[in-house]
Amino acid sequence: MSISARDRLIAALDVPDLKKAKELLDRLDPSVNFYKVGNQLFTSCGPQIVELIKERGHKVFLDLKYHDIPNTVAKAAQAAYELGVDMFNMHAMGGFSMMETAAAAVTSSASSDKRPKPVMLGVTVLTSMDEATFQDVLGIPGRSIDEQVLHLARLSQSAGLDGVVASPHEIAMLRKNLGKEFVILTPGIRPADSSSDDQKRFLTPGQAIKTGADYLVVGRPITAAPDPASAAQKIIKEIEDAIK
Ligand code: C5P
Repeated sequence: MSISARDRLIAALDVPDLKKAKELLDRLDPSVNFYKVGNQLFTSCGPQIVELIKERGHKVFLDLKYHDIPNTVAKAAQAAYELGVDMFNMHAMGGFSMMETAAAAVTSSASSDKRPKPVMLGVTVLTSMDEATFQDVLGIPGRSIDEQVLHLARLSQSAGLDGVVASPHEIAMLRKNLGKEFVILTPGIRPADSSSDDQKRFLTPGQAIKTGADYLVVGRPITAAPDPASAAQKIIKEIEDAIK
């Protein structure tokens, strides 16, 4: 898969409203080409944030992590496709049938419209879960988080998704087991010269790409930098050096 260094960086628009999002877009234009819209911003301003980013000629990762019955998720996935997003995700814990129905609906629409199919990702185990919480919630004795991540990634792949969201420490294991074409998107990225904030297990952009990640989602190292555009440019340069 040949993705440019610039398109591998996804800047998280983790801001509360449209005004703040516009200000950040103005500062990051044209350095950044791919933006993540998550639950907070989408709940606050709805589809117009996606339309605004698309009008500016950029790509959108809609990070709403769908998790519901297959019919409902398939309809939501279809709506995301019609909105024109370039990437979206759903919880792999929603099950094979949920992922398969959603993936099939979008794949078939894209093929009949002759439009590019968005990248569809599964969310395996949230990185906010530690082993104790994981055992507590799922009650699966004897299966570690890593084993569950691999299991859910395989399920996502067999259901027709393109890849998964993975924490930095899962990249190598997933790349080894799921093959070269499987898309791996990784948050928890910290350039060597930036603060770790609340991310406990992180990699630098170059390390993450070299370990096998395709896309990096970066928030605060860009949004909280004194000069967000130059912070983004430095990350893109690091990605470029890593894919050479
Ligand atoms: O500011 P920071 O770079 O930590 O932001 C990372 C982004 O990736 C945030 O939007 C966060 O919600 C998201 N994310 C994460 N860890 C995950 C999944 C998503 O940090 N496991």
